[in-house]
Amino acid sequence: MTRATLLRNGLIVDGDNRPARRGDVLLAGERIVALAAPGQIAPEVMAQFGQAFDEIDCSGKVIAPGFIDVHTHDDGAVLDAPAMLPKLSQGVTTVVVGNCGLSLVPLVTQEPVAPLALLGRQQFRFPGMAGYAQAVDAARPSVNVAALVGHTTLRMHHMAHLDRPAQADELAAMVKDLEEAMAAGALGLSSGVFYQEAYAADQAELTALACAAARSGGIYATHIRDELAGILPALQEAALTARQAGLPLVLSHHKCAGPANWGRTRETLPLIEQLAREQDIGMDVYPYTAGSTVLREDLVDGVIDILITGSQPHPELAGRYLADIARVWELTQQEACRRLMPGGACYFQMREDDVERVIAHPLSMIGSDGLPHDERPHPRLWGTFPRVLACYWREKGLLPLEQAVHKMTGLSARRFKLDQRGLLKPGFYADVLVFDPARVRDLATFENPIQFSAGIERVWVNGVLSYTEDGRATGARAGRFVRRAVSS
Ligand code: ZN
Ligand code: CU
Repeated sequence: MTRATLLRNGLIVDGDNRPARRGDVLLAGERIVALAAPGQIAPEVMAQFGQAFDEIDCSGKVIAPGFIDVHTHDDGAVLDAPAMLPKLSQGVTTVVVGNCGLSLVPLVTQEPVAPLALLGRQQFRFPGMAGYAQAVDAARPSVNVAALVGHTTLRMHHMAHLDRPAQADELAAMVKDLEEAMAAGALGLSSGVFYQEAYAADQAELTALACAAARSGGIYATHIRDELAGILPALQEAALTARQAGLPLVLSHHKCAGPANWGRTRETLPLIEQLAREQDIGMDVYPYTAGSTVLREDLVDGVIDILITGSQPHPELAGRYLADIARVWELTQQEACRRLMPGGACYFQMREDDVERVIAHPLSMIGSDGLPHDERPHPRLWGTFPRVLACYWREKGLLPLEQAVHKMTGLSARRFKLDQRGLLKPGFYADVLVFDPARVRDLATFENPIQFSAGIERVWVNGVLSYTEDGRATGARAGRFVRRAVSS
């Protein structure tokens, strides 16, 4: 007989943005079997499991779908560190890898250069998505893994020179790789035309690839060309690519970066709304005013604070501010930056009111953009999801609990075409989370970024209890490679 788990008398927040209600949830095998008011699951349903069920009293606790982290760079981490504690401990049960144009697939190299090195250095060994999917299943990560194919990776695989648009033969080879990856279950295409390695791509190149993703029912996620002064044309470019290809668009980590741009979500969000009347658009966002990426001189403006997360020549300086390092070295910040490269940093380039406007917006989903290979990572790696609940729901009251959860579960699954996940619904996979709404909180900070969150009490992945707050990871690693839903 399949062993079942009855979660009793919790506050059910089902991920679909419907009003929370008190009730019971029954899990068995890898599925959710039933939901009902307290004590109301039908006797004949319970009888199927005889005495063989565990009962957990969830009084005062929220029962929700496991969180879906739609923006990650966990491509290599799920293989290298399959316990995936930074994510599992937040209640995350599925990660979407391959964002910002950067994916492991399809590239074989021992020397990945920045920005690909954001994915680590060890795992560039997959000529196709089928091999990556197999490797994920063999590694048995604790969370499910769904994958985008990165445009920058495609370029690096097929182009010797990246400072120009792809030529016809190169583009054909990139399209072929993308089609193969889509056939193996990839969710779609991602791009990061912000990064130098992809910046020279023109509209024809991007549209041709987006069309290939569209033919397989995929989506297009993009780190747009410019999040500073040129953000409006950059948004238009992304929308045009998706419109020409006829596929859904996800704007990655939407933000207005740089002091001269602060407040401009008052312009970007209305533009996105206007575009969304004509085409399918969503966006992801992380709940912090600092971004994080590789060290880049052009992002050093001498105004914003910059915190070093890692440096190959100077690993001992991780955790220090660039301005302080520059002072000690008697250099300008740009010069100091050059000396620290290659490396990574947190850039305090956003303002709180912009972050709040994006989080509250109905088109946004939560994605961490965490960087798992940094020595001192941006705290979003360990804290994003509990932080949205603690800071933006409970403390600021920026959005209702149901909507906050929706942005981390049901909305995310629908936009990224993850089948039978993201909702508490009979028949769906039992990716389930119990948290304490009074205690849930991120503890990771910029000073101390590697910290478990509080209040994430129990996490099931595919029906397997994988994490408890008291005992931490159970050692069960029940995640798997998740393919794009076929219809929708
Ligand atoms: Zn990005
Ligand atoms: Cu990213």
